[in-house]
Amino acid sequence: MIPRYLINFDSEKLSQSTSDLLIIGSGVAGLSVALRASKFCQITLLTKSELGEATTRYAQGGIAAAVGEGDSPEYHLKDTMEAGDGLCDPRAVRILVEEGPARLRELIDFGAHFDLTGNHLSLSLEGGHSRPRVAHARGDATGREVELALVNAVRKNPQVETHENIFVLDLLTHQDRCIGAIAFEPFGAKFRLFIAKAVILAAGGMGQLFKVTTNPSISTGDGIAMSYRAGAEIVDLEFIQFHPTALYEDGNPRFLITEAIRGEGAVLRDIRGQRFMDGVHPLADLAPRDVVVRQMVKVMKANSNDHLYLDATVIPLDNLKKNFPTIYQKCLQAGIDISKDLIPVAPAAHYMSGGVRTDLNGRTNLPGLYACGEVACTGIHGANRLASNSLLEGLVLSKRISDVLNQDLAELSLKLTEMAVSHSSPKRGKTVGLEQERRKLQETMTNKVGVIRSRKSLEEAAKIVESMKDVLDIQFNSVDGFELQNMILLAKLIIRAALMREESRGTHYREDFPKVDDTKWRKRIVFKDTEQGMRV
Ligand code: FAD
Ligand code: SIN
Repeated sequence: MIPRYLINFDSEKLSQSTSDLLIIGSGVAGLSVALRASKFCQITLLTKSELGEATTRYAQGGIAAAVGEGDSPEYHLKDTMEAGDGLCDPRAVRILVEEGPARLRELIDFGAHFDLTGNHLSLSLEGGHSRPRVAHARGDATGREVELALVNAVRKNPQVETHENIFVLDLLTHQDRCIGAIAFEPFGAKFRLFIAKAVILAAGGMGQLFKVTTNPSISTGDGIAMSYRAGAEIVDLEFIQFHPTALYEDGNPRFLITEAIRGEGAVLRDIRGQRFMDGVHPLADLAPRDVVVRQMVKVMKANSNDHLYLDATVIPLDNLKKNFPTIYQKCLQAGIDISKDLIPVAPAAHYMSGGVRTDLNGRTNLPGLYACGEVACTGIHGANRLASNSLLEGLVLSKRISDVLNQDLAELSLKLTEMAVSHSSPKRGKTVGLEQERRKLQETMTNKVGVIRSRKSLEEAAKIVESMKDVLDIQFNSVDGFELQNMILLAKLIIRAALMREESRGTHYREDFPKVDDTKWRKRIVFKDTEQGMRV
């Protein structure tokens, strides 16, 4: 049994704030919901970082939407479904592709500047897309433009009260309803309660579970872990997307080299300079990410090497400087002139396709809890997300959530002040080497639960993670400790899902079951914690 809450507490002894709506997270999802919902309710927004520091900020390629000449939502739907390898929910994908163009235009009206060619949006091509469809800003700095435009608007909005550098530990539940969250303020080591009529979870992804990732340090899977503890349904956790081209360098996170650079003509080469994607897939270097990454791993293994090369030298220098200014500069600082030199790259954990299960309006199975963005799983991405569909999903779902929320809040009659919650479970107070345990977990996930898996590697991983289970009983007083607890829980769930799915589909590749098995596995794995333990 996993403890329901990370700490023991009594709500009557902690300071409490109340609002209509509590939002956890300040990336594209959280900020977009905040701006929309601020028209009809009063909001508290919590973020464990500073406003502006979220995965969203690092997005490079852009936002996919069928706005180009000759494109249509039907083509976008087809590409998304193909990348998703038989597991996308077609209703969710239709919503994404049909509502996407309007949400992109609203973002532009709202103050985000996207690159233009003449009077039209400049659109680039990325893996798995049948035509150029990806709108971008300042070349490869799309995320920064989007995040800052939204942050500026939120800062000016008197209906949104923001709290930065505050870590949400757990969702509070009372009589099977989500009524807020318990949070930790590291400066002063204080616990606080935030009570609300509804909670929007927009806490992003979990790349930091891996030793090599493109995700910033905030991406430790807290949102999925706290939802699971609170009784929300969690789905599709075995589908973790690895990006083919992270700069091969020391440290974590690793800097991303956008797929859009391959859309401009860059190609992958092995250690001897040979191309290796021709003949593997009709789209060659622009095949869906899972296909490219698997081939990269095979080539690296055959050459006993841990990196390959991206060759962008065919792209004219002025194009590189204009469309990829961040990458150009970052590589130059690392001593690589991308107009002349090959760029050393390796795959890195990049995106969680699964997450907290929601309906088409972001509602979870737990009344009062909604989820949006990477933490959520609407069924749009299936077994493999199509490039640049993630920011779009955040924009589209945030509008749908705020539409239903308006109605849900109006129908709700809750007396927020009358709800008392407490938790007490045996705590062993033991300490552990946090950094060492985190590294052990990250290495285990990369080496045994990475791009290529097998029963053997997954069972080995399960054993290592099981040996860390005592950490879940410790009462920590630090963000690092809480994050480690969330990462261990999430790793357990991911490994369990990956062991169960005895087939290969999308980003989940089992070398002991190398084929898609539609008869047994055209279905999704859903986990829910109950008083009797995990229900699958
Ligand atoms: P995030 O932007 O990650 O925000 C999560 C928020 O939750 C943060 O504010 C964080 O501080 C907060 N939070 C988390 N845990 C807690 C906690 N315990 N307590 C309080 N706050 C918490 N997608 C695209 O569509 N196009 C791209 O071009 C693209 N490029 C990418 C490039 C990189 C390098 C990476 C890593 C991803 C890229 N993606 C891209 C994916 C996309 O950026 C993310 O999926 C998306 O930004 C997620 O947005 P979000 O709002 O759900 O989460
Ligand atoms: C990239 O720019 O290659 C990343 C795009 C994405 O992850 O959607």
